[in-house]
Parts: sequence; structure tokens; C-alpha cells
Amino acid sequence: MQVQSLMISPDSIEDVRNRMDIVDVISDFITLKRSGQNYKALSPFNSEKTPSFYVVPSKGIFKDFSSGKGGDAITFVMEHEGMSYIEAIRYLAKKYGVELKETVQTQLEQEAVSSRDSLYIVMNYAKEQFKTQLLESEEGKSIGLSYFRERGFHDRTIEKFELGYTQNEWRTLYDAALKAGYSEEVLEKAGLIVKKEEGKTYDRFRGRVIFPVHNLAGKVIAFGARILTNQKDQPKYINSPETEIYHKSEVLYGIYQAKNAIRKEDFCFLVEGYTDVISLHQAGIENAVASSGTALTEDQIKLIKRFTENVTVLFDGDAAGIRAALRGIDLILKGGLNVRVLLLPDGEDPDSFSRKHSTTELTDFFKKQAKDFISFKIDLYASEAAQDPVKKAEAIREIITSISVIPDPIKRSVYIQETSNLLKIQETVLLTELNKILIAERRKNQQEKLNVEKQEPFTDRQDILPPAKLDSNGIVEILEREVIRMLLVYSNSKVEEDVDLVSYFINEFEDLEFSNKLLEKIFNIYLEAKEKGLQLNSDYFFASENNELKNLVAEIVVANDRYHISPNWKNYNILIDEEKDNVPATAHHNVLFRKYRYVQKLIEENIIKIKEAEARQDLSEVDQLLMVQIQLKNFDSEIAKQLGITSGKY
Ligand code: UTP
Ligand code: MN
Repeated sequence: MQVQSLMISPDSIEDVRNRMDIVDVISDFITLKRSGQNYKALSPFNSEKTPSFYVVPSKGIFKDFSSGKGGDAITFVMEHEGMSYIEAIRYLAKKYGVELKETVQTQLEQEAVSSRDSLYIVMNYAKEQFKTQLLESEEGKSIGLSYFRERGFHDRTIEKFELGYTQNEWRTLYDAALKAGYSEEVLEKAGLIVKKEEGKTYDRFRGRVIFPVHNLAGKVIAFGARILTNQKDQPKYINSPETEIYHKSEVLYGIYQAKNAIRKEDFCFLVEGYTDVISLHQAGIENAVASSGTALTEDQIKLIKRFTENVTVLFDGDAAGIRAALRGIDLILKGGLNVRVLLLPDGEDPDSFSRKHSTTELTDFFKKQAKDFISFKIDLYASEAAQDPVKKAEAIREIITSISVIPDPIKRSVYIQETSNLLKIQETVLLTELNKILIAERRKNQQEKLNVEKQEPFTDRQDILPPAKLDSNGIVEILEREVIRMLLVYSNSKVEEDVDLVSYFINEFEDLEFSNKLLEKIFNIYLEAKEKGLQLNSDYFFASENNELKNLVAEIVVANDRYHISPNWKNYNILIDEEKDNVPATAHHNVLFRKYRYVQKLIEENIIKIKEAEARQDLSEVDQLLMVQIQLKNFDSEIAKQLGITSGKY
């Protein structure tokens, strides 16, 4: 991953592009069947019975209709192997024997790269040493190997996870590595040795079994070393420290072994420990990764998101497990992923549990027991909430808080609906609660934005649907106007039995910045009135002292009477018959269409940015932008599906 900052010359990339053959590239991973000029296959991204994966050799592209993914051979390798752009280029270069020329780097850059490379090399050396000690030394066999066997790990599993052993001596690895030519400096930088003053230097890991931690590409970047005795004064695990190649908060244990299964199953189990991942794997559940004992981080969630949008947290059913699950839920939701929760029977962890059951039993159990986070939270509070209205209110607030962190308004409203059904509470009540939280949150964010000037591109909700600031072509403004028009003209209408149009629009648009400040102002006035429980109609604005505002409202209302449907709107192919009779459909359509145009706009702009970055040879930027592109495309096809139109202009 770190190698991304290398600059590969554009000529070399062009070379790779010219030589790659899409049928040949894809055939390395799946079996293609000829169909006329083109090829067909079962989707490698979804499980399906009829093939919907197409390759068009004449254009050098593939399209997978079941997942919506598509692109050239590079995209395919990125998607299928979870590689970055650079990793995919390297892979293809190797396949076609293209020598990648790297453009001149600054000396600092060169040093950084070679320093990281030397860490990968020494970590790989250490891993091999630990494996040898496990499988070949007397101590390793009698202590380490027999420990793993006792735990039920098969040889295949031990090999797959490259488990090892380190002898109970002060300097086994240290001496061997020096002899093999590794410098003390690199051993220390890799965190393999500990240097005490007075020249006392020794191995960090001693007398323990070893769990190597791999990065996405399968390189070892860290070790966890488990104690085998019951010494209370010793930690159970000793782990590698942070190094140039190991950033704990960005890593998930098992991701390398699990990535293909995660993509195939389209969901991922999240567990706590090394042994949980390994036992599940051995039990045939290969889509599991661990956060390794620490609280989940945003970066870890982003890592999962490269492969799936669905996470099931699988924890022990004890108090600590529940706490950990609760902590994880909101962070996962905030990352835009869907989350389910699965608690094991008390006293069991995924490791112990998976050893007692067959793969089918496990799969069945997991399928039946996994609850979506709302049911999970409801059940958690249900026993108390049944009698106690205060507790019930608390439970509602808990659930709404979780819903409020979900970046996608469409998803939010689905969850509100579900909560309403499950708790037998009117949706409007829940929406009001939700809006309160969202408004408070928005104020807080605005405050923070004032304090923080530069924001990371991938931090909060913005990575899903950044606030609209675009007014090119006036598309956004036309759509905004349409929203305000509907508010002014139909503010008393209902979108659904329990949802009035104002609540609906507030819920859908609250996190989008209007490009026209005056329209935004009107929207905010509705929002405030709603908060106070007041109903507004256009008369309110005519009484206003603000002339600009008054004029705009008048213009919109008059135009409405004159044309009935805004002529601009018609240009965008929305045909609304007898709008008055179908306010809900129009409202919903507006919401979706606005997002659709907007996302397309972002996609167009992103493509330009990618081209610019490519021209600048800023390949890590290209990489970043491509990730954005994938997210945007997913969003785009999701909305298009709901609108019943075919997306895929790009
Ligand atoms: P556990 O105590 O559940 O460990 O901690 P485990 O791996 O499941 O081991 P067994 O099954 O009891 O043998 C869960 C994870 O927390 C981290 C490790 O990543 C571990 O896998 N951990 C735990 C540490 O890093 N240090 C520790 O001292 C304890
Ligand atoms: Mn455990």
C-alpha cells in the first residue's frame, strides 16, 4: 500500500494499457463463455444463477449487471482483488512483462520507499524464522505446535495464517538476523527487537506462539504473540508496535485471507480476536476479520467498505460483548455501512462456538440470529421498556441517535419506518426526534467547520453525499426551487398517511446545502416552524419584511398558478400528470431526481479530476479519486434503480 507514492511514468502505464487484453486478464479469475462477439459469465461479485457479467473485447470493457460494476481490465483487477490503482498496474505489468519505469523521485522519497521495503523484507524473514521454529525445532513442536493442535487448528489452517513460534530465549531472532545480514537498525525499526541501554538488546517476542498480521497484499506487517502459560504478571499478547509499515488503526486482522469471501458473500463478520478469525475460517466461515481487541476505527471501516457494505458484528453475549457491539454499531453506521448484530450464547466466543458446530449449523444459526441494529437495541431495552415509559423514551432516543448518524437520508427513512412498526409509534414522532438530533448535529458541525479550515476528504457524511454547492447549468437551483415550490404550494399535504410533506422534505434535504441562499432561507424557516410545531403557508412570507424573500415567494407561487408545472422541470424529463392528485409521488420523485442529477454532476467532475491527476502523474491522488468514483457510481445506480431509469452514462 505504501508503495503508492512511487511515481510510475505515464509511458509505462500507457504500455500496460496497450498490452492488456481484457478477456485474458479476466480469464485468470473466472471462466468466460463466448456469446457472439462478446463473453458472458456468472458474476464474480454476487452469487447468481443466470449470467449477468459481460465482457466486450472490442471495447476493452466489462459490465456486471448484478452489482453495477463495470470498467476496463484495470478496474476489474482493482475490484476483484481489492487492489489500489497502482497495485493493479503493477500486477498487470508483471503479467505482460512490462517494465515499469519510475520517474525520478526526490532523495527523501527514495529513502522512505527503500526504508519501508526493508521493513517488509525483514518482517518476511522473521515470519519465516517463526514458522521454521514452530515446525522444525524441538521446543516449537512440543510446545507451540501441540498448543495449536490442542486448540484444534489443522495444519492447513496453520499454513494459511502462517502461524509460528518463537523460542523462549533472549536473542534467537536477533542473532540469526544479524548473521543473515540484517542491520540492528532495521530490526529495531520493524519492532522485532527491544533495545535497552548499556547495549542490552533482545527479541521482543519470546516463548510465545506467533500470529502474523498481513496487509491486503499478503505482506506481513506485524505480529501478535500469545503467551502459553498462566503467568499473571505477563500480558496475554505482545503485539508489534506502530512502525512505518504498521498502523494499527488502519488494519484488520484476517483481511487478506477473508477478502475474496467477503466480496463473494457480500458481507463481513467482525469479531474481536485472532483466534476467532482463525476458528471461523477453519469452520468454513471465511468472511471474518478482527479489530484485534481495540475499539473499531473509521479507517478499519473504510477498509471493509472496499469489499462490502454489510457488516455483522459477532461478539460474546456477555456484558463486555454487548458494550463492544453497541460501540461498534454507530461507527459502522456512520461509515455508511449496514450493520447487523449477532450475540453468541453467554460464555461462548466465536472461537469456542465455531469449534462445536458444523459449517451448515453455523451458517443457519448466524442467519437466524443476526438482528438488524434496531431490533437489537429494542430487545436490549424491551424488558425494561415494557413497563416503564421513561425507559421506553430512552430506548427510542437510543435508536434514533443511531439512525441519525446514517449518512444516507433514504436509508434513514427506511429505518424510521421500521422503528415505527416495531415500537408502534407514529413515524412523525420519530421524525421529529430525528430532526432535533440532526439539527443539533448540524449546528455543531457548522461550528466545527468554522474552527477547522481544512477538512479531510473522507471523514464524515460528506463522503457519501457532499453538500451541494454546484450551480453549473443551474440544475441544482432548478431542483431546489422545485422543492421550495412544493413546500409553498402543498405544505398541508401528506406524503404518506402519517408523514406530511414538510417533514418529509426536511428529513430528506436537511444535510444538503442550497446553492441559492434565499431558497435556503425559506427552507430553514419551514424547518424552524416545524420544530416549534407550527404550520406555515405562503401567506406567512407575504407578511415578511424582507422584500427579496417576498418577491421570490410571489414569483414561485404565481408561476405555479400560471404553468402548473414549472417549464424548466419539464426539460428534465419529469412528466407529472395531475400533480395535485399525486403529491406524494411528485415529492418523492423530486427528492430522488435531485440527488440523481447531483450525483451525476459529481461523477462528471470527478472524471475531470481523475484526468487532471493522471496528467500530473499524481497517482496516489488518482487512486483516491477512483475510490470516490466507485462510491459515486454505487450511489448513482442505487438512485437510478429507485427512479426506474438506467444509469451508466459513464
Ligand atoms: P482475547 O483475550 O479474546 O484473545 O482478546 P483471543 O485471541 O481470543 O485468545 P484466546 O482465544 O483466549 O486464546 C481478543 C483480542 O484482543 C487482543 C488480541 O488481538 C486478541 O486476539 N489482545 C488481547 C491484545 O492485543 N493483548 C492482550 O493482552 C489481550
Ligand atoms: Mn477470545
